[in-house]
Amino acid sequence: MVASSSSCKCRVLASALVVVLAMAARGAVAYLYDDIKVTWGSGCSFFYMDNDVDTLALCLDRSSGTGISSNGSYLFARYDMDIKLIANDSAGTVATFYLLPDDNVPWEYRDEIDFEFLGNATGEPYTVHTNIYVNGAGGREQQFKLWFDPTEDFHTYSIEWNPKYIIFLVDDTPIRAYKNDRARGVPFPTWQSLTAEGSLWDAEEWATQGGQVKTDWSQAPFYAYYRNFRVTPCVPSPGVAWCGDEPPESTWFDQRLDAAALQRVQAQNMIYDYCVDQKRFKDTGFPVECTTA
Ligand SMILES: *[C@@H]1O[C@H](CO)[C@@H](O)[C@H](O)[C@H]1NC(C)=O
Ligand SMILES: *[C@@H]1O[C@H](CO)[C@@H](O)[C@H](O)[C@H]1NC(C)=O
Ligand SMILES: *[C@@H]1O[C@H](CO)[C@@H](O)[C@H](O)[C@H]1NC(C)=O
Repeated sequence: MVASSSSCKCRVLASALVVVLAMAARGAVAYLYDDIKVTWGSGCSFFYMDNDVDTLALCLDRSSGTGISSNGSYLFARYDMDIKLIANDSAGTVATFYLLPDDNVPWEYRDEIDFEFLGNATGEPYTVHTNIYVNGAGGREQQFKLWFDPTEDFHTYSIEWNPKYIIFLVDDTPIRAYKNDRARGVPFPTWQSLTAEGSLWDAEEWATQGGQVKTDWSQAPFYAYYRNFRVTPCVPSPGVAWCGDEPPESTWFDQRLDAAALQRVQAQNMIYDYCVDQKRFKDTGFPVECTTA
């Protein structure tokens, strides 16, 4: 089992250190620079234009990683980010894209939806780690290998969060769906808005091959690239005023999930699933969402 990460562990809410770039006059295009702020870090991150796309080079050096945060928060939405991961030796590093409530929410009310990209030695594959916390409790890890090299180009990583499902997607293909099964007592985040966050940090004690391969600081600074952040609010079914009023039994949101594609990816690309980890739950029994009605 991978130690629960929580990128916030290394959060040092230092004043934003944003490398200032003179921005072109605002047009119809949304600039990443306007929607995302650097909330902590060593100061080696920077925004730049990459073929006319406003891009953030998120930096990790010996002194610190970096964290970013969206300036808006949303209750039920789809959040997309295009990410290009660290090339070559990324062992020991973790890049993240995740959702989190306001900083002031006490731990016992903390909901969190995580994408974490665990680096690897040169030539070895990245692992995509996902987790869901509700009311401060996580332990819902699923891990995947990707069907492409995520360091070669940008790919879109998305979290769709509606009243019925949390869906993790990679290039629009669902890799994981977590269902709001309220009737059976499955915990699900339903009431507080969440901001999108990202980070790049050092987790060499556990991230790569169970902590056996450490960060090679001679390769630093490390950069992961983020761009095209977008948020699409949840659309309820006709006649329903707001997504939060949509009953979880509604079939409206099932149309949002390509169940066949999900099944395919889960069969071919999933490398860890807490719901089948017999050893881990042999004393306590499986969490309710892992059992069938
Ligand atoms: C962030 O704030 C800017 C300026 O207030 C605003 O124009 C922009 O729409 C906001 N972005 C998001 C994602 O809420
Ligand atoms: C990765 O390795 C290739 C081949 O050695 C090199 O051309 C490239 O600059 C390296 N990339 C980074 C980010 O170090
Ligand atoms: C790294 O590569 C090894 C060997 O291919 C693989 O077993 C492991 O799952 C990969 N990912 C991480 C994060 O260690």
